[in-house]
Amino acid sequence: MKNIMVTGGAGFIGSNFVIHMLEKYDDYQIVVYDKLTYAGNMDNLLDVSDDPRYTFVKADICDAAAVEQAIQQHNIDTIVNFAAETHVDRSIMNPDAFIQTSVYGTYVLLEAARKFGLERYHQISTDEVYGHIPAGYSSVETDNLEPRSPYAASKASADLLVNAYWVTYQLPVTITRGSNNIGPFQYPEKVVPLFATNAIDGEPLPVYGDGRQMREYQYVRDHCEAIDLVLHKGVLGEAYNIGTGVEMENLAMVEILLDELRLSSDLIRHVADRPGHDRRYSLDIGKIRALGWRPRHSAEEAIRVTARWYRDNEWWWRKIKSGEFKAYYQAQYGRRLQEAAPTN
Ligand code: NAD
Ligand code: DAU
Repeated sequence: MKNIMVTGGAGFIGSNFVIHMLEKYDDYQIVVYDKLTYAGNMDNLLDVSDDPRYTFVKADICDAAAVEQAIQQHNIDTIVNFAAETHVDRSIMNPDAFIQTSVYGTYVLLEAARKFGLERYHQISTDEVYGHIPAGYSSVETDNLEPRSPYAASKASADLLVNAYWVTYQLPVTITRGSNNIGPFQYPEKVVPLFATNAIDGEPLPVYGDGRQMREYQYVRDHCEAIDLVLHKGVLGEAYNIGTGVEMENLAMVEILLDELRLSSDLIRHVADRPGHDRRYSLDIGKIRALGWRPRHSAEEAIRVTARWYRDNEWWWRKIKSGEFKAYYQAQYGRRLQEAAPTN
């Protein structure tokens, strides 16, 4: 492994992964291949923009000719596929791009990996493929995939394609299924950056339903370390769950966030719930632990570090929140917030 193509590398986790890999390995060349959708952001890669080991290609993973050209031109031996539409709420409003990128786009990458005999194809997947998990149980990698949103279904479809290429063609694949990531460079549609930036501006925090849904919030750089480990030590054909193994109610996350920012919970508004909202995800992380990985941050530490990053990096998020985001926010929350009463 030497020349790695990181698809979706201008997004949140992808950019953190690129920074991690260039910090850790002197002799790897990284090609970021990214379409730059609304979620792709070159600011995320500023720290590495002058690094001679890094190259950027602006293109779509659904474009087979562009994928093949990038692989040949940069002598790629490994693909790590982060590219996807990633926001559950947007998938409910308009699923089309989710299916295009995660189903057709993953197929295009797999075909290219097969054609050029790549050393590794690694798929970045999610705990959402397992669906809602009842209390007292944690998902293991061999569980059935029971996705319930268009986003989760698009990701589960990709996992099935990856597995099919392993079984049918012995393409050397691995999959990681991560829980909710938080940290620097997360587009502020996702709950933690949305709430941190709204709170800093004194805007309401739209908590869906009763706010007692459970998520496993993990620090993005911990997740990147685990992906790196699976790339180097993972068993071909296998999937690995990556999380903290500890889930938390959304309201508890909000309280920690507001405490770190020294702001009041008066900002909380309970708004109409997300349709089909999965109440709980929970990962059994025994398999990735057995490879030697431990998360460096608890969920609470991850939330606090993240809150401070948004407090200290307004340069990054203010321009996002003043652009396309405004129309999205109005469509997603305008009516719900009008109908919501303050909690206190
Ligand atoms: P993100 O939305 O921040 O970034 C996605 C990136 O993919 C963007 O840079 C975008 O421009 C690019 N992209 C989208 N469609 C593309 C296409 N057709 N061709 C090329 N590039 C395209 O996403 P993220 O939160 O960083 O998530 C990255 C991956 O990790 C996704 O596959 C997601 O499903 C998975 N994941 C995310 C989380 C999380 O909590 N954010 C958790 C587990 C798994
Ligand atoms: O679990 C991994 C997944 O985590 C990733 O695969 C997805 O790409 C990523 O977006 C994330 O999905 P979630 O739907 O869990 O994340 P989100 O930040 O949208 O929501 C987290 C929780 O907060 C969820 O229970 C819904 C709730 N929420 C979210 C928003 C945006 C609110 O209560 N209010 C909000 O405004």
